[in-house]
Amino acid sequence: MSHYRIGIVGGDGIGPEVVAEGLKVLDATGVSYDAVPFDLGGARYLRTGEVLPDGVLEEIRGLDAVLLGAVGTPDVPPGVLERGLLLRLRFELDLYVNLRPFHAPPEVDMVVVRENTEGAYAGEGGFLRKGTPHEVATQGSVNTRMGVERCVRFAFDLARTRSRRHVTLVHKTNVLTFAGDLWQRVFDEVAAEHDDVGTGYHHVDAACIYFVQDPGRYDVIVTDNLFGDILTDLGGAVSGGIGRAASGNLNPARTGPSLFEPVHGSAPDIAGTGRADPRAAIMSVAMMLDFLGEAEAAARVTKAVAGSEGATGTTAQIGDAIAEGV
Ligand code: IPM
Ligand code: MN
Repeated sequence: MSHYRIGIVGGDGIGPEVVAEGLKVLDATGVSYDAVPFDLGGARYLRTGEVLPDGVLEEIRGLDAVLLGAVGTPDVPPGVLERGLLLRLRFELDLYVNLRPFHAPPEVDMVVVRENTEGAYAGEGGFLRKGTPHEVATQGSVNTRMGVERCVRFAFDLARTRSRRHVTLVHKTNVLTFAGDLWQRVFDEVAAEHDDVGTGYHHVDAACIYFVQDPGRYDVIVTDNLFGDILTDLGGAVSGGIGRAASGNLNPARTGPSLFEPVHGSAPDIAGTGRADPRAAIMSVAMMLDFLGEAEAAARVTKAVAGSEGATGTTAQIGDAIAEGV
């Protein structure tokens, strides 16, 4: 029987509350693991000024997976924790696919493959003449053939494991003529190697309409980092709410641990009230189990979450009900 070392980053706001329920459910599966807790997030930053010390990052590299709640608190300037902790982990651990599935029976069963290490998130750009009336700000989008291709290949491989076997590229090729052209060419090349997978293309603005009006049309979607960020909040909103949306930041090459987290943020406004829905964190545990090769345990968690549809109560009560169903 395998044994795993799982890093636990509760983070800020409701993060620690929902992660606690995720671990409750993980315990209920009987999968053997050690929880390795990390004090990272707003509290540590305010205490010590540290966001992600190099030594901590090295410790994380040696783990089998990481479960993260949420980062970001109103006490810390916006972006410090998001970029310094979450994005740094995505980049340093080469978590190049952000996998975000959405289910709303009977018709919605789609999964977004969001590129997770490039695009507008790469931090390319800068200021000229900052603070003057003539100041200039640029913010580029970095798209490498390697980075695009590995995501597109992941999406096609994923589609082959699903019954509908279909991939839609979402971009804005009519305006983003350089990045969009690279994405479209790579997509077409990979598609040509996958005759058994159907393909489609939607501009991102049109995809937003389809997400709201007819999300059942999608199977696998592949898209860039920023479009994927926006589209997956919308995906959550149209399939049971953002409190249900789970994600896996994957290193499919398995050169290090992958990181699993709810799509939602730290929601400081409801922290401590017991009102946070732990299902997104619990489904992130299911995704983690699946990626670790514990498909049977993952399926039991997924089924228990589906069976908890009517469950109401506090964060902990919902967690209890799901843990009992595992
Ligand atoms: C997400 C979040 C992050 C992102 C933030 C916290 C940097 O919104 O995981 O979707 O933009 O990727
Ligand atoms: Mn987001």
